[in-house]
Amino acid sequence: MSFEYRNNVLFCDGISIPEIVKSHETPFFLYSEDFIRRGADVLKKAFIDKGINVSYALKANSNIYLLNCMNKLGLDVDIVSGGELFVALKAGFTGDQISFAGTGKTESDIKYALESNIAQFNVESSFELQMIQKIAKSMHLTANVLLRINPNIDAKTHPHISTGLKENKFGIAMDEVDTILHHPKRYPNINIMGLHSHIGSQILNSEPFMTLIDFMRNYLEKLKNEGIHLTHVDLGGGFGVDYTNPLQTPEENQFVLEKIGHYAKEQLSDYKLFIQPGRILVGNAGLIITKVLGEKLNSEKRFYIVDAGMTELIRPSLYSAYHAVLPLNDTHGKINADIVGPVCESTDFFSKNREIPKLHQGELVAIGSSGAYASSMSSNYNSRPFVAELIVDSKQDVKTIRRRQTYEEMSQLYII
Ligand code: LLP
Repeated sequence: MSFEYRNNVLFCDGISIPEIVKSHETPFFLYSEDFIRRGADVLKKAFIDKGINVSYALKANSNIYLLNCMNKLGLDVDIVSGGELFVALKAGFTGDQISFAGTGKTESDIKYALESNIAQFNVESSFELQMIQKIAKSMHLTANVLLRINPNIDAKTHPHISTGLKENKFGIAMDEVDTILHHPKRYPNINIMGLHSHIGSQILNSEPFMTLIDFMRNYLEKLKNEGIHLTHVDLGGGFGVDYTNPLQTPEENQFVLEKIGHYAKEQLSDYKLFIQPGRILVGNAGLIITKVLGEKLNSEKRFYIVDAGMTELIRPSLYSAYHAVLPLNDTHGKINADIVGPVCESTDFFSKNREIPKLHQGELVAIGSSGAYASSMSSNYNSRPFVAELIVDSKQDVKTIRRRQTYEEMSQLYII
């Protein structure tokens, strides 16, 4: 099921979206639970069934209902902040299911994570290692750690979401990793179990992952010869989705993922393996449903102004990302126009200079592939409240899983 057209009408898990819109104020996010369930099944076959642990990178979408689904579907979770630890625990994950990445962990983040008995920190610098050592010692604990290496591998993705190159801020340079591993006594309260790497996001083929697996195997082999025996390898996330086809099924990703899972197991069979996918689980599980406020022509240029904006989906402004535009009733001709939001920024757009469905004032339209890095990157800019999030659940009920923020809630933290 997930998203599909039936007789030119867009459906979510068997429910007509124009029907959903009748009782819900726009804009809102709409998710398909069926897509998430099937996506988790694809990951299970490609990785979990081969003994590879899958931790959902919750930054992609941190709605607690969705996190709870991931938990029930047998996934663990990867976090990058104290706030993400809080929501993960709230969603029912236990400490032993949580790994903690991120370039700038604070003292209170580290303390909170140690108190919560998380499975491991993925450490990004020697200063972080020293911080963890100091805090773990003061708490009379030993912290489990993987070192996030910077392997200088090109993920061939958008420069803003590439993380495995020397010029990126992420990970520890290899010579420094070597020094740390050869001097474990400097960190008596730390148990360095293995290596972690995340080379980037929206990677559409298996090649960069194969290169990473080869790199890990060679480096671990070198360490072994030097008498250093590690046990854990985390290959990060980064698996891409098809933004040109928001009606993509989760099963379309099976082949590439199987290939990566198979190669990882074959080359790194002696290690406990982990991956941390985010986008692939939720990217094409969600749409933004928005209303056309009106149409205007600035000399030759045609604009449709809609009620959602960069506050709900910042990806087009930040990465020039392509998001498809889907009419709820697909009976339209096409027209060249920009779809823009109401926010006071020229970068507030969903599509530019593209052939899109011809629309009318008051009509509803869906912005495709809005399940990942959309709601979780949303803001209150222009004092726009966070919008509602809806899901069609496994019983095919339409459920509000986050209600729209009120003006009062949006302003309650101000002190006058
Ligand atoms: N693990 C680590 C350590 C990460 O930093 C990330 C994403 C992931 C896993 C999950 O990556 P995924 O499987 O979702 O590609 N806002 C950007 C994407 C930023 C990704 C940040 N790190 C976007 O909208 O494209």
